[in-house]
Order: sequence, then C-alpha cells, then structure tokens
Amino acid sequence: MADVSRARFLVTGGAGFIGSHFVHDTLRRYPEARVTVLDKLTYAGNLDNLAELKGDSRFAFVRGDICDREIVRPLVGESDIVVNFAAETHVDRAIGDPGSFVQTDVYGAYILLEAAREAKTSRFLQISTDEVYGEILGDAANEEAPLLPRNPYSASKAGGDRLAYSYHATYGMPVIVTRCSNNYGPRQHPEKLVPLFVTNALDDAPLPVYGTGTNLRDWIHVRDHVSALHAIIETDGLDGHAFNIAGRNEKSVLEITGGILDALGKPRDLVRHVKDRPGHDRRYAIDDSKLRRMTGWKPAHPFESGLRETVLWYRENRDWWEKVKSGVFQDYYRKHYGL
Ligand code: NAD
Ligand code: DAU
Repeated sequence: MADVSRARFLVTGGAGFIGSHFVHDTLRRYPEARVTVLDKLTYAGNLDNLAELKGDSRFAFVRGDICDREIVRPLVGESDIVVNFAAETHVDRAIGDPGSFVQTDVYGAYILLEAAREAKTSRFLQISTDEVYGEILGDAANEEAPLLPRNPYSASKAGGDRLAYSYHATYGMPVIVTRCSNNYGPRQHPEKLVPLFVTNALDDAPLPVYGTGTNLRDWIHVRDHVSALHAIIETDGLDGHAFNIAGRNEKSVLEITGGILDALGKPRDLVRHVKDRPGHDRRYAIDDSKLRRMTGWKPAHPFESGLRETVLWYRENRDWWEKVKSGVFQDYYRKHYGL
C-alpha cells in the first residue's frame, strides 16, 4: 500500500463538482497532506465549493488555466501527485462549442503531462469518463473495449485519456486513467440532469426530458467515485492501468425523473418532453470488476437513499444553486431549451 498520508496533491478543476469533493475527502483522510487546487473558474468553477477550507494552512488555491505552461510547471514541480479533473464537461455545450473542449480536455492534459514528465511526478491520475466507450447497447464495456466516442465532449476526453496513457507507454510515466459513470450528489452544476431537475421541480418549473427519456446511464454517488480514486491512489503497482468506476445502478432518465418528483412530492405533469440531444447516446454501461478485484473498493451509497439525500441537499441549499442558476445561466437555459 502506497503511503500518501503526507503527499502534496495538485488537484486541477478542484473548484468543480467532483474535484471539490475529492479535495475535501483528501484532507479528511490524510490530515498531514497538502492540497493545491488549480482552477480557471469557468462558469462551472465555484469557490463556494471550497469555502470551508478558507484559512486551512494545508490548502492553497490558484486561479489559472491548465493550458498555461507558465502557471502549470511550478505547481506540478511542487507536487507529488497530480489529479487532473479540469475539463469542459457538459455534452450539450460541446455540441455548440467543441473548440473549448478540445483545448482544455486534450491540449490542457498535454500541458500537464509535459510538466509532470519534466518534474518526474510520482503519480498522475487522468480523470476520464465512461463516455469514451461510446454508446453501449450490449454487454457492459470493460477496459479492453474499443473507445468509440460519439460527441465532441467524449471524443476530447478520449484524446486526453489516450494521451495520458501514451506518456506511460512512451516515457514510462506513472500514469493511471479512470473512467467513471454518471455522478450525482451535492454541489453539481445545475446544467446536469439531476440538479437541473431537482431545482426546477423545487420551483415548479418544467423538467425538460430529451426525446423519449428512455436513455440509460449508470449512476454513482460522487462520494463513491472519490473513494474509488483514493483506493487507486493507495494501491501500489497500478501504473499504466485504466479503471472503470461504476455504481452498478442502471436507470433511465424517466426513472431518475420519477425518483426526484417522488422525493419532493411533486406531480408527474412537470415532465416536458423536448427535442432530443443530437447524437444522444442511448446507453452507457461499464464493467468495473477490474477495479474491485485489484483494489478491494466497493461503493457505500445505495442509489435510492443517495438520490433522496441529494434531493434534500438541494432543497436545503437554495442559496448555493440560486447563485449558480442566475445571470449567464438564465441566458444559456433560455437559448438551449427555449422554455
Ligand atoms: P465540473 O464542470 O463541475 O468542473 C470542472 C472544473 O474544471 C471547474 O471548476 C472548471 O472551472 C475547471 N476548469 C475547466 N476548464 C479549465 C481549465 N482550462 N483550466 C483549469 N480549470 C478548468 O466537472 P465535474 O462534473 O466535476 O467533472 C470533473 C471531471 O470528471 C472531468 O474531467 C469530467 O470529464 C470527469 N467525469 C465527470 C463525470 C460526471 O458525471 N460529472 C463522470 C465521469 C468523469
Ligand atoms: O457518463 C459520464 C458523463 O456523465 C460525464 O463524463 C459527463 O461529464 C457528465 O456530464 C455526464 O454526461 P451525460 O450527458 O450522461 O449527463 P447529463 O446530466 O447531461 O445527461 C444525463 C441524461 O439525461 C442523458 O441521457 C441526457 C438526459 N437529459 C439531460 C439534461 C441536462 C435530459 O433528458 N434533459 C436534460 O435537460
């Protein structure tokens, strides 16, 4: 087992949804570790997600772009472990603006990898996604399945994923790639299905289901994703590997929608079927038995109680999401949904 209890972590994208959970959990698990967050604070980055750490001497925040070599090099040089969460992450936005996805998700990964190569960083985690396998209509994809991404987000993530692996294969760098399924939990940007539908339902606004609502995803609580990442970081001998991370909770959009409405006691007539997402992948499904076998990890949050608890978090934290949903988000929402 690797001793990371005093490691210096560089967490890119740490002001976002999953990155911020990773930061909090890292400092809870390893009280003597240090964490530096590098985040551009795009529309998706939110310093409120890190507010509890203000004044904590183990924590530092740097506002900057992972594509900026001058900012990245010294930060990587001062770190033992780099965890790259920074990315443009929303499929709908990738359809309208693929360039920013290629820039951050591919070129940004390259800048970080180059800096890590130069600094001889002892561990580099590239946070990829199950979307890189593309639409999976048959058996769940294991890590040997071909990467067949079908939208500019997943294609850019596949670029970052394979680029990271190439630094292991070519330069022997200690790179690990993870591919998780759909996360849910507190502090997720309300452009994504669960927080959008919860917050709309709280305001009795329509829930815009794309097409038939029969598309399938595997859902995992963000805290389980983070615990899987720590299980990987703590295990020796995994360099060069890719790992799927799954919740083993396959649900359709309509099932998720029903769960949210029931948890809030809201009526089904809030559901509004709208024009489908172009190239909408019908199903993602991954086999995570390699991760469970090699690290002993398993998720701790059953889906039904996890979703209920998440719904309640948004009900009780209106301040957090009202800020995020105001201003530019309103313009995006009107333009995108026309509602
Ligand atoms: P998010 O959109 O909530 O956060 C992304 C963060 O990255 C934001 O804080 C943003 O400001 C920052 N960022 C964006 N561009 C940057 C740049 N050029 N330089 C520095 N910072 C930048 O995303 P998330 O849902 O927390 O996802 C985090 C990572 O996990 C991403 O790499 C994503 O592809 C991956 N992932 C997400 C899910 C999911 O269900 N959300 C599932 C699997 C994998
Ligand atoms: O699978 C992992 C991926 O999950 C991550 O890599 C991405 O960063 C993350 O955004 C997520 O991608 P999805 O496209 O699956 O997530 P999203 O929340 O956008 O959509 C989930 C499902 O809900 C999908 O079938 C589309 C549908 N949907 C979504 C929105 C926002 C709707 O029907 N209506 C909506 O308004």
